[in-house]
Amino acid sequence: HKPRVLVTIPMFAEVLTALAERFEVDAPCGTATPIDWTADSLAARAQGAAGLLVAGSPRIDAALLAAAPSLRAVCSMAVGHNNIDLPACTAAGVLVSNAPDVLTETTADFGFALMMATARRIAESEHFLRAGRWTHWAYDMFAGADVHGATLGVLGMGRIGQAIARRGALGFGMPVIYHNRSRLDGAIEQQLGARWVDKATLLREADHLVIVVPYSPASHHLVAAADLALMKPSATLTNIARGGVVDDAALAQALRARTIAAAGLDVFEGEPSVHPDLLTVPNVVMTPHIASASLRTRRAMADLAAANLAAALSGQQPPTALNPQVLPLRPA
Ligand code: GLV
Ligand code: GLV
Repeated sequence: HKPRVLVTIPMFAEVLTALAERFEVDAPCGTATPIDWTADSLAARAQGAAGLLVAGSPRIDAALLAAAPSLRAVCSMAVGHNNIDLPACTAAGVLVSNAPDVLTETTADFGFALMMATARRIAESEHFLRAGRWTHWAYDMFAGADVHGATLGVLGMGRIGQAIARRGALGFGMPVIYHNRSRLDGAIEQQLGARWVDKATLLREADHLVIVVPYSPASHHLVAAADLALMKPSATLTNIARGGVVDDAALAQALRARTIAAAGLDVFEGEPSVHPDLLTVPNVVMTPHIASASLRTRRAMADLAAANLAAALSGQQPPTALNPQVLPLRPA
């Protein structure tokens, strides 16, 4: 008999079809209908499942693993995996995988686009036009900040951070500074023209700050009121990392007081809710967590999650396992 897998998120029809060749597929969302899982409804539905295919939600924790002891593998189509308690999964012998690499360039494109939209006030001016308020030319109408030649600050220099730095350095002649727990190797720094600085220097010197650090308890409110206070009044901040890395209430306050010029946000604390103060300041461009969302890349992320599931449950090495030390898995 085929092992059962629960797909907790809406999924490409082709991916469901491919999964059905090896698994009994339970896909309650089908291709289109998201479910607001609760801990209880997820635990109930996961009974008897050997694998889960998830994304940045729902939450996978020790309580779920205890309630669904049949689980052997949790495969996510997101790169960020802060919704998954990795130590608890490892302790329970459950393989976890994420979906890195395939989304790097697409996500960097979006981070750069959001930074440019923020610097050049594209969303604000589009709303103005749609509202029928465009009547005259004015020398300072929606005059923003230049991107080319400005100093790009990257907070979190992983694969996506490096891809953004490359765009800035090679495409836009931007001096690049970055902060990361570990420094890049010298050859890569040289190739990106990137200089490591401490966090305070990054905040003080960046004209356009792009945040790409993974969320963890250590990066919670990594950018809070005191950090925002170090930034130039002309600077922009773009967050494509995770809600919670930036203190959204403090950010809304800084935007309203114009102690920084503008922000671009694809991720929010408590999303899909958005801090009400952010909704009422004009100098912020907001998108609903879509940085990796090109059709081709989302399909590649889903295919990678499915490949991880297939490998894990058939005793092979999954391509992007986060805790390969649990292999080989307990028999189902
Ligand atoms: C999106 O945020 C992801 O982690 O893939
Ligand atoms: C984040 O995980 C990255 O790939 O930069």
